[in-house]
Amino acid sequence: MSTTTTLNVNGKDHSVDAEPDSMLLYALRNDLKLHGPKFGCGLSECGACTIIMDGSAIRSCVTPVSAAQGKKITTLEGLGTPEKPHPLQQAFIDEQAAQCAYCINGIIMTAKAFLDHNPKPSRDDIKQALNGNLCRCGTHMRIVRAIERAAKHGGQA
Ligand code: FES
Ligand code: FES
Repeated sequence: MSTTTTLNVNGKDHSVDAEPDSMLLYALRNDLKLHGPKFGCGLSECGACTIIMDGSAIRSCVTPVSAAQGKKITTLEGLGTPEKPHPLQQAFIDEQAAQCAYCINGIIMTAKAFLDHNPKPSRDDIKQALNGNLCRCGTHMRIVRAIERAAKHGGQA
């Protein structure tokens, strides 16, 4: 039976009618029309659906809506805008890190949570942090350089 859940997303409260065990990714994409989080595998294996919940990068494809009640959620849309990109988004543009870009939103959200906790990472730290995010295009080195660039320019802000 569907129930009403309040989701705090990108600083605003939204009421969503959903089965409590339905996945947060669907509520974000279908109800709130936030298409930053992508559906990749649906099995917590690729990272395309990554968002930030209470400061941690999580996989919205395996997180039930009920687990998000009362939490602060940030999606890619909560970082920057095309006119004023977040430093991390700007670094990805500057390094031309995206090819098809399907993985990139999840990688940026993973990197955001990571840099917030570790603002001066080594290259190995970055690789380790991105271990669970798959990129079928193989732009890994550009992605790592983009995160290094963002860290240099205070991308954790
Ligand atoms: S879609 Fe969630 S980890 Fe792949
Ligand atoms: S840029 Fe295409 S999957 Fe990563």
